[in-house]
Amino acid sequence: MACGIVAVATEPGRLGKALGRVIRDSLKYLEYRGYDSVGFALITNEGELVIRKSKGMLDLVEAKLGFSYYDGLVGIGHTRWATHGAPSDINSHPHTDCKGSVAVAHNGIIENYLSLKEELLRRGHTFTSETDTEVVPHLMEEFKKLGLTPYEAFKKAVSMLRGAYALVAIDLDERDKVFFAKGTSPLIVGFGSGFNFLASDIPAFLRYTNRVLVLMDGEVGYITSRGVVVERLRASDGGFTTSIATSEPVDFTWRVKVIDWTPEMAMKGGYPHFMLKEIHEQPEALTLTLSGLVGISEKVVPILARADKVLVVGAGTSYHASLIGSLLFNNLAELWSSAMISSEARWYLRSVGDNDVVIAVSQSGETIDTLLAVREAKRRGAIVIALSNVVDSAIPRESDLSIYMRAGPEIGVAATKTFTAQVAVLTYLAAKAGERRGVINGKYLDGVVGDLRRAPSLISRVISVYEGRIRRIAGMLASKQSAFYLGRGLGLPVSMEGALKLKEVAYIHAEAYPAGESKHGPIALIEEGFPVVFTSLGREDGELLKSNIEEMKARYAWIIAVTPKGSEEITKLVDDVFEMPPMKYEASPVVYIVPYQLLAYYTAVSKGYDPDKPRNLAKTVTVV
Ligand code: M6R
Repeated sequence: MACGIVAVATEPGRLGKALGRVIRDSLKYLEYRGYDSVGFALITNEGELVIRKSKGMLDLVEAKLGFSYYDGLVGIGHTRWATHGAPSDINSHPHTDCKGSVAVAHNGIIENYLSLKEELLRRGHTFTSETDTEVVPHLMEEFKKLGLTPYEAFKKAVSMLRGAYALVAIDLDERDKVFFAKGTSPLIVGFGSGFNFLASDIPAFLRYTNRVLVLMDGEVGYITSRGVVVERLRASDGGFTTSIATSEPVDFTWRVKVIDWTPEMAMKGGYPHFMLKEIHEQPEALTLTLSGLVGISEKVVPILARADKVLVVGAGTSYHASLIGSLLFNNLAELWSSAMISSEARWYLRSVGDNDVVIAVSQSGETIDTLLAVREAKRRGAIVIALSNVVDSAIPRESDLSIYMRAGPEIGVAATKTFTAQVAVLTYLAAKAGERRGVINGKYLDGVVGDLRRAPSLISRVISVYEGRIRRIAGMLASKQSAFYLGRGLGLPVSMEGALKLKEVAYIHAEAYPAGESKHGPIALIEEGFPVVFTSLGREDGELLKSNIEEMKARYAWIIAVTPKGSEEITKLVDDVFEMPPMKYEASPVVYIVPYQLLAYYTAVSKGYDPDKPRNLAKTVTVV
């Protein structure tokens, strides 16, 4: 995700313009995914592999490199959203091998690239970039040297990769083919007559064809101008030997669909709004977030584990993720930790010093309140760690260390997938720091991390089971003026995030409150039909929440609850319940927030609002 890929194989003149131009125009339709660099590679009619790439926006890069003028029969294009290696000309895709005969573009993260790179370096390969992607052309080169055909070498290279990828490759030794592979990151085939496309998203080729095949994980193959071959790759890679990665043909004909979307609908993946698309993208985004964490946490966890205090700062949704992080640092790692709203942080940062860590949480990496907190923390000598979704944005640039969420660009103003990514990262770090400090044992750590890794599939399940019901409840909520969201422990920041979503997109006054505190004042507002939403993340919460629910019930409130499956005591008390998969308490916020995101979305839609553009709000806030 995030990066954009386009690849074309065509008969001469079939697309009505030079192939470079076709690729450039197609990349234009992927700009919405966000990017920092652009590149393309094409095999010319004269049999030369041309690669042009640069940091910068498409139109400027095109003006500088003029790649639209090149023509040929196969070509690939890429918009890069940096994950490994800063945005730069050299790190831009496509990447090539030592001989310059292969060009590869990639979207995703290759988790085991360092060990592959070490082996390739030992075998005499020279690398030019800092990217994970560059191992792929060198692997192909290595296997061709060992006697495999280009396609065999490609499949063999793919079989050695761990992580997430959509890959396209062209090779001077097989000039009519574009090879492809899909694992987690999206890749779609567009079928034409005398040409075929591959792309990260349908709008890239919708001008030329509306016959599409959404590739599935584990599929590899190639396109030519005349046809498409899809195979399922077998798991075993056989290491750096001549053994071939076996594959079997896939009959995909029944999966080819004709779509009737406009380009704008296609950009939203067929969803009516980006917010809904991004809610549905969470399983994929989280998979990428988690796969990118192992390496960076080796650097960050020792620093956290020896800190005196860990302060977590953020604004809005990022503050709610910070609250979850700080509660977990306290509970899993017994580290003194507090979360602060960025714009208030200056009043608390006076007491931080050299032995303290400040984690600055910001999706955009540009929120000025958070940036000012970073500057203040640095001035006082604290180690600052940025947690952001945008590589090289201001907050990571000014911090000592950066962790990127890799959740892909978020276009809807209301943060959804970046919240679950932030929470997953902070939970992972707190659990790792806890183990390192001897507060939790390896088994406990594995339980928490294991449940984070299960979260993508659990989210998919929650969405598919509850979306319809949430829609109906949203229709009822739409007529209300106010709502309470009550929770305890980790359930409180989940409630706060749920309430913020409802305020932002449905313009309903929603207040989150500690459930136990509600009887100390807010309960005065309750009257018949007043919506009160309870978040219970575990059995213990449930026990404590029971009496709070009874208090609301006695006043005829409309009670909705999000609670683990099997909490009969709660289920029988409430009017509407979303029974969630039981999980380790610490990992559950990542999944339990999802019904609230959908509830806010559908309430906004049922009131006739556009959830992607809430009034008075901007995606990035750069004023104090
Ligand atoms: O980019 P940041 O995470 O720093 O943004 C912070 C807030 O402005 C942001 O979370 C805001 O509250 C969103 N609209 C939440 O949906």
